[in-house]
Amino acid sequence: MAPPKLLLSVSLLSLIIQLSLSSSSIHSLLRSKGLPAGLLPEEVKAYNFSENGRLEVFLDAPCLTKYENRVYFETVVTANLTYGSLIGVEGLQQEELFVWLPVKDIIVNDPSDGLILFDIGLAQKQLSRSLFDVPPRCKNNQTGGALRNHVRKEKGFEALR
Ligand SMILES: *[C@@H]1O[C@H](CO)[C@@H](O)[C@H](O)[C@H]1NC(C)=O
Ligand SMILES: *[C@@H]1O[C@H](CO)[C@@H](O)[C@H](O)[C@H]1NC(C)=O
Ligand SMILES: *[C@@H]1O[C@H](CO)[C@@H](O)[C@H](O)[C@H]1NC(C)=O
Repeated sequence: MAPPKLLLSVSLLSLIIQLSLSSSSIHSLLRSKGLPAGLLPEEVKAYNFSENGRLEVFLDAPCLTKYENRVYFETVVTANLTYGSLIGVEGLQQEELFVWLPVKDIIVNDPSDGLILFDIGLAQKQLSRSLFDVPPRCKNNQTGGALRNHVRKEKGFEALR
C-alpha cells in the first residue's frame, strides 16, 4: 500500500490538473473548432458542450470588455458550436454607435483571410481575427458607470423592440 503522504500528493496533483484543465478547456475547445480562443473571456467558470453542438458558457458575473468595440457577455452565453462558427448566439452584445446590439452569429468563413464575421442582425461586421487571439479580461468595476450606462441603454433598446 502506498504511504498516505504519497496518496495525498497524488490526489492533490490530479486536483490541480483538473482545475487547470477546466479553466483552459473552453478556449481549447474553441481552437479545436477552428475559432480563436479570445471569442470568450478569460473569466469563464464552466461550460457544457453537448453532442448536438449546443454550447452553454457560464460566467460568475456579467462581463464588460472590448474587442474593437465594447462587448457585453451575460452570465450565461449559449450558441450552437460547429467547426468555424457559433450560430444563434444568445447572451452577447456589441456596442455600435452607442447602441447595444445582440451578436447573433460569429463565423470564420475562410481561415486564411484573417477575418471574423460578426452578424449583429442589422449588419455584418468583419473584424480582424487577431483581435481574438487572447481571451480578454472582464473589467473589474462591474458596478461602475459603464455598466449602469449599459443597463439603461439596454432597457431603452428592449423598449424599442
Ligand atoms: C450542464 O452541465 C451540468 C453539469 O454537467 C448539468 O448539471 C446541467 O444539467 C447541464 N445543463 C444543461 C442545460 O444541459
Ligand atoms: C441550435 O441547435 C439546436 C439543436 O441542434 C436546434 O434545434 C436549433 O435550431 C439550433 N439553433 C440555431 C439558431 O441554429
Ligand atoms: C474601480 O473603482 C474604484 C473606485 O471607483 C477605483 O478606485 C479603481 O481604480 C477601479 N478599478 C479599475 C480596475 O478600474
